[in-house]
Amino acid sequence: MIIGGYIKTLTVLARIIDESDVCRRRHCYKVEKYSLYICKRLKLPAKATKIIKIASILHDIGKVGIDLNIIKKPAKLNSEEWAQVRLHPYIGNNIVKQAGFLDDIAPTIRYHHARFEGGGYPNPDIKGEEIPLGSRIICVADAFDSMMSDRPYRKAMSEEKALAELTRCSGNQFDPNIVEAFLDTYVKE
Ligand SMILES: [Fe+2]
Repeated sequence: MIIGGYIKTLTVLARIIDESDVCRRRHCYKVEKYSLYICKRLKLPAKATKIIKIASILHDIGKVGIDLNIIKKPAKLNSEEWAQVRLHPYIGNNIVKQAGFLDDIAPTIRYHHARFEGGGYPNPDIKGEEIPLGSRIICVADAFDSMMSDRPYRKAMSEEKALAELTRCSGNQFDPNIVEAFLDTYVKE
């Protein structure tokens, strides 16, 4: 009960973060939806799917530890601001770890910006299948929704362009198997 209550509290918090950022409204819902498409396509067991579902909703919870002026800045970030933003997966990992047995959720959040070929953040050394499967799934779902959303410094990409970008970055930024699973199941909204 305590753990369930904690997850609910974090979920509400994640949605508040989404709502406070005009560019990313409903982002965590969409990342959850796309992540679940991929889990279904990969026929993942119920327990793994549940962990990925929770992690997808909470993936950016670490942004509560970042200055809100940076999160909401209506322009490109400078290098110092980027350095702060790059800590959010690590902060999220620490927040979720407080819930005790949710051990699989914390690393899934921690590595959601890891690159398949290495060089992601906050741990550039991790790559390939060393990256938790859930993180690789959320990475694709997150990137797709981010490309399809307006930013203060760029317009949203068209759906076709965002899908093409997933393919272009398959194998370097993204796990090719995950990109393939997403492309196989993606349904136009
Ligand atoms: Fe993130």
